[in-house]
Amino acid sequence: MPSPHPHPCLLAPSILAGDHANLAASLKIIETSGLDWVHLDIMDGHFVPNLSFGPQTVQALRAGSKLFFDVHLMLDNPHLYIDAFIDAGADLISIHVEPDYPVGPTLDYIRSRGCKCGVVLNPDTDVAAARPYLPKCDLVLCMTVQPGFGGQSFRHDVLPKILELADLRSTLALNYRLEVDGGVDITTAALCRAQGADTLVAGTAFFSATEQAEFVRAITGR
Ligand code: DX5
Ligand code: ZN
Repeated sequence: MPSPHPHPCLLAPSILAGDHANLAASLKIIETSGLDWVHLDIMDGHFVPNLSFGPQTVQALRAGSKLFFDVHLMLDNPHLYIDAFIDAGADLISIHVEPDYPVGPTLDYIRSRGCKCGVVLNPDTDVAAARPYLPKCDLVLCMTVQPGFGGQSFRHDVLPKILELADLRSTLALNYRLEVDGGVDITTAALCRAQGADTLVAGTAFFSATEQAEFVRAITGR
């Protein structure tokens, strides 16, 4: 049984599944669906075997949008790019715990610049790897696919970890949002929410829905 949800459920569509020839139009679709957050996936071709876009694109999108920018850095050296993404307009930056760099000080630095911060765990990474950082986090992101590409199948074996992080949040009296990312659709979102997730990232399922507003109602229960 998951601990009670301290946060209302929200959907953060991943712009990675938007129209890369017209990302501004994809942001508008998110806004007109009544949503407040957008998820921006940044890939370096090293930590993950793919490239996406960088701070210049984030800055250009920022100029035309009031959405909350939830920036997910999939980089080997995220600490070298924090200033660039904050200057570009990130509202929250989440960083993976798997690469070898100073995770705790990087979270402190993000916060010192007035930005929210979070950690990310790959599907096979145990909660123990994130445990020391949880008190510093506004958000903890559980990958439910191996990061790098949209459109992959949801990893059901990650569900117990979501519950573990929800229980830890309550036991330790912490307040982080619990986000899931990868293969999230109406069916898998319900499974994640039942384990305590409150922040849903959906790329393919959101942008391929025939009616986004209806998709939002179905996935968030609003
Ligand atoms: C994967 C990214 C995800 C991805 C989700 O590396 O972190 O945000 O865009 O896409 P879907 O919803 O298509 O699995
Ligand atoms: Zn992501």
